[in-house]
Amino acid sequence: MAPKRPRTPSTFASTFYTLRLITLSLLLAVLFMAPGVFADDDEDDEVDLLDMQPDREAGAVMYRQCALCHGKHGQGILGGKYPRIAGLPDYYLLNALKDYQTGVRGYDAMLVVGALKTAEDQDLVNLAAYISDMELDIDVPGPEAGSARSGRRLYRYDCKTCHGRKAEGKTRKESPPLRSQYHEYLLRQIELFKSKERIHADDPEDETFKAYEDEELLDILAWIASLDDKEEDDD
Ligand code: HEC
Ligand code: HEC
Repeated sequence: MAPKRPRTPSTFASTFYTLRLITLSLLLAVLFMAPGVFADDDEDDEVDLLDMQPDREAGAVMYRQCALCHGKHGQGILGGKYPRIAGLPDYYLLNALKDYQTGVRGYDAMLVVGALKTAEDQDLVNLAAYISDMELDIDVPGPEAGSARSGRRLYRYDCKTCHGRKAEGKTRKESPPLRSQYHEYLLRQIELFKSKERIHADDPEDETFKAYEDEELLDILAWIASLDDKEEDDD
C-alpha cells in the first residue's frame, strides 16, 4: 500500500478554492431561483394564469357561447341543471375551466358547445375576468325539507374554515362561494365528491361528506340558501 501523500500547501489551497467555488455557485443558484420553484406543478399553472392580463371584451364575445346554457347574466337555471356562474372569483373559475378542459371534471357538452376544447390559456383568462365581474343578485330557494337552524351548526363546525363564515368562499383556500347557488347543483356536486368523480378540497382522500345523512346535507344546504350575496363576513 502506498503511503499517504502528505498534503502540500498547494493541494490545500486548491481544495479551499474549490469549496469556495461550490459555496458561491450555491449562493448564486439560491439568489436567482425563480420564486415559483418550490411550488408544485398545479400551483404553477394557476399562478401563471392569474398573472396574465385579461381582455374583458374578448371574454364577453366568447361568453356568448356560454350564455346558451348559463344565461346572459350568468344566472344559470332554476333547478340547478346549469349552475349560476356570475361573480364566481377568478381563481376558482380558472381552476374549474382548466379542470373541464383537461377532463378532471367531466362535462363534454361544455367543451364542444362552449368551445372550451380549443380555448387557449388567454381565452380562459379573458372569460374568468369577464364572468367574475358579472354582477348578479338572485335569491335562490333552499330545499324545502332542510332546516337552516341545524344546518347552521353543522356548517359552522365543518365547512366554515374553508368556505367562509357566510359561505362567501376563500381565496387562500381556493374555495368557491356556496351561497346564491342552486342547492340541486350543490347536492349533485356533493354526490360527485362522495363517489370520487370530483375531488373535494384538493384532497383525493377527502371524506368530508361521508359522515352525513342525506337529511343533514339538506339542512346545510338550507342554511347556505338562507345567506345572500351581499352579506359581508362580520368576524
Ligand atoms: C351545453 C351547456 C353548457 C355550455 C355551453 C357551457 N356550460 Fe358551463 N356548465 C354546464 C353544466 C351542466 C355544468 C355543471 C357540470 C357539472 O356538474 O360538473 C357547468 C359547469 C360550469 C362551471 C362550474 C361552476 C362551479 O360552481 O363549479 C363553470 C365555471 C362553467 N360551467 C363555465 C362555463 C363557461 C365559461 C362556458 C363557456 C365557455 C360554459 N360553461 C359553457 C353547462 C354548460
Ligand atoms: C379543507 C377545506 C374545505 C372544507 C372543510 C370544505 N370544503 Fe367544500 N370545497 C373546498 C374547495 C377547495 C372546493 C373547490 C374544489 C375544486 O376546485 O374543484 C370546494 C368545493 C365545494 C363544493 C362545490 C361547489 C361548486 O360550485 O361546484 C361544494 C358543494 C362544497 N365544497 C361543499 C362543502 C360543504 C357543505 C362543506 C362542509 C360539510 C365543505 N365543502 C367543507 C374546500 C373545503
